Amino acid sequence: MSFTAIIGGTGLTELKNLDITHKEMVNTPYGSPSGPLTFGKVAGNDVVFLARHGHRHTIPPHKVNYRANLWALKEAGVKRVIAVAAVGGITKSMWPERIVIPNQIIDYTWGRSQTFFEDDLSFVTHVDFTHPYNQELRQILLSSASELQLNPYDGGVYAATQGPRLESIAEVNKLERDGCDIVGMTGMPEAALARELDLKYVTCALVINWAAGKDGDNIISLQEMEKYLESGMAKIRAVLEAALPRVVDVV
Ligand code: HPA
Repeated sequence: MSFTAIIGGTGLTELKNLDITHKEMVNTPYGSPSGPLTFGKVAGNDVVFLARHGHRHTIPPHKVNYRANLWALKEAGVKRVIAVAAVGGITKSMWPERIVIPNQIIDYTWGRSQTFFEDDLSFVTHVDFTHPYNQELRQILLSSASELQLNPYDGGVYAATQGPRLESIAEVNKLERDGCDIVGMTGMPEAALARELDLKYVTCALVINWAAGKDGDNIISLQEMEKYLESGMAKIRAVLEAALPRVVDVV
């Protein structure tokens, strides 16, 4: 069986449209994943769901065991990963509630275990990361969201910051000068670890706030973020339902 995994982020600790068949607590050489792997079907399609921040949203971005998460999914027979992520919008087309399917990423995180290739090596390994996201999966998410009239943004650079705090205005301005369009805290090392394990990986991002300084003098309101999370995640669930039957062809 070749499974599709959905890694749910903030606002998506469970998949309401998932008919659960069983859950598995697994262990890996890198420790425990964020929670059990939840197997089931979304609209008839086999999926494995994993809540990145834990079932009760208790694991902050810098404490997520990304290696255990990806390793557990690979061991379960997963071939492709759809990573859902809430982000801040930096450039002008990245307004709150917009769905963005980024095509590039810059890593600003530090101190996270970011590779499987470090101990007991027989040779040093460098994986190609020219295109961090799988292009076929990107196109499927984009067409699924477009058919639902959701006006997704095609492309954009994801800035992966350390968190858990949000950024200062100067930091966001720097990210913008670097060419970043959206900012989140979990995109790395997740994308790179997926590549190391030869998993096809795509990010489905939902903008839930303007990044610091991008909304006039307003500071970021957690209440507003939650509002956009709730309405936006309903859209993401619809996109996933539409996309899942099509992604099985990506092998
Ligand atoms: N910055 C970093 N991560 C985020 C943001 C943000 O503004 N919004 C949601 N995740």
